Amino acid sequence: MKLQEEIIRRRTFAIISHPDAGKTTLTEKFLLYGGAIQIAGAVKSNKIRKSATSDFMEIERQRGISVATSVMTFEYSNVLINLLDTPGHKDFAEDTYRTLTAVDSVILVIDSVKGVETQTKKLMEVCRMRKTPVIVFINKMDLEGRDPFDLLDELEKMLNIKVQPLSWPINKGSEFKGVYNLFDRTLQLFSPEKQTVEKDRLEIDDLNDPLLDELILRDADQLREDVSLLNGVYPGFDVDEYLAANIAPVFFGSARNNFGVKELLDTFIRISPLPESRETDKRTVVPDEEDFTGFVFKIHANIDPKHRNRIAFVRIVSGKFERNKYIYHCRLDKELKFSSPATFMASARSIIDEAFPGDVIGLYDTGNFKIGDSLSEGEKLQFRGIPSFSPEIFKELINRDPMKTKQLDKGIEQLTEEGVAQLFYQQHGSKKVVGVVGDLQFEVIQYRLKNEYGASCEFVPKDIYKACWITSNDKKKLTEFIRFKSQNVFTDKDDHLVFLAPSEWLLKVTQEANPEITFHTTSEFKTEKVEV
Ligand code: G4P
Repeated sequence: MKLQEEIIRRRTFAIISHPDAGKTTLTEKFLLYGGAIQIAGAVKSNKIRKSATSDFMEIERQRGISVATSVMTFEYSNVLINLLDTPGHKDFAEDTYRTLTAVDSVILVIDSVKGVETQTKKLMEVCRMRKTPVIVFINKMDLEGRDPFDLLDELEKMLNIKVQPLSWPINKGSEFKGVYNLFDRTLQLFSPEKQTVEKDRLEIDDLNDPLLDELILRDADQLREDVSLLNGVYPGFDVDEYLAANIAPVFFGSARNNFGVKELLDTFIRISPLPESRETDKRTVVPDEEDFTGFVFKIHANIDPKHRNRIAFVRIVSGKFERNKYIYHCRLDKELKFSSPATFMASARSIIDEAFPGDVIGLYDTGNFKIGDSLSEGEKLQFRGIPSFSPEIFKELINRDPMKTKQLDKGIEQLTEEGVAQLFYQQHGSKKVVGVVGDLQFEVIQYRLKNEYGASCEFVPKDIYKACWITSNDKKKLTEFIRFKSQNVFTDKDDHLVFLAPSEWLLKVTQEANPEITFHTTSEFKTEKVEV
């Protein structure tokens, strides 16, 4: 098959949600449609149990198998779908943000009872920043959820995106009758006892058709009223607006009952973006370039603690990746060859000979890779858009066993390369501060440092509100600032300067007092300035 043909049959996306909205259930239903798994429950067993909030042993156990579910590849209607898994636990949000750099679109799952939740908002912010097209699935329509019009309003207001319902629910909870597809003009009736199949869709072109009254009885008039209201409020679906990430189409259904899932998947493969171009520091790389390029967005380390092996997950951006062919590691300026690149089919890992744009491959690594590294066939370039965001909790790393200083240094460096946490080194001093999104990470790090590196450490809480990456055109002012604020100026893994602001108020004051210095919200400086 030609490169172009390989590209147009691929879709790479992630399902995102606030925990418990139904991401795992929906993923599983997709995999069943794709024939990638045979039984319900297969994905679920790989999920970090909800009770495990402080049980890092459980997380350890999960780490071993989560590699297999990091990328789930399946085929549906001749389309090769790469579904990238994102951790459900909020303390692993940073991992989710990075995974979003490797997808071309997302499906956002909302719980119809709870509506927009905190994690939904944060994830959507990342999608908006990256202009990632989003399809919304409002789940759990079999429950007594909120009014669908209110939910749409809430999505628009709280997620700051225009929505376009493509299906509409007929009643809800115990009275839920099904959905009317506004796009295809088909009616799909819900019955909680049986799984829906395609033939259940009935064409109802004209809503005044008396058949509608026969089928959904007194709900028919309400549907007519709702649809006429919808036609007035929502302008009609323009797929280009969705692809430009200006409008999010919305579907209603129930993942647990497999209702509305096939409809969602069918629409997804019809409208979702093909593997997209990506920006580099030099130029835009388009997928159908002959030469291979890709970037590392995730590293999974020490799967087997006895061997320090790691898997670097690479998203292919252009060209064809081939096994045993030298590729160029741009940061290290080095040629590397991989004899057993892995692909992932839901639960099994297998070696592949070639891979194409949109695909994610796993490369066994002995310490060459960092998140964000770019690969090519010789061209020196750096993919953009894989920034670090400010962590939310900061603690100072204290060595508890001076005999094991080397092990601690190496361990913390490797764990942070893996993206478990961010490590900041004091610019004029020896302090090391570790920043994470959720407290649980500190337990995981402490445990892994002991277990895998034999190092003992302690974490001491620091009053830090935010990490801001700083730049300035005025070298002298920057040097003065570093000296003056030496307690709070650190560097990140790439040697970029970071100001660890003690409080929101102090950040504001510092910004006002130093107009020559720019404070950035992410490690990629073309993004917006910090607003305080
Ligand atoms: P997550 O990955 O987003 O965290 O959510 P997950 O799929 O695990 O779903 C969370 C809970 O919501 C599960 O119940 C799941 O069965 C339920 N659920 C998912 N979709 C629907 C739906 O359409 N309707 C209803 N009523 N519930 C739904 P659980 O009790 O935690 O697990 P289980 O005992 O059902 O496996």
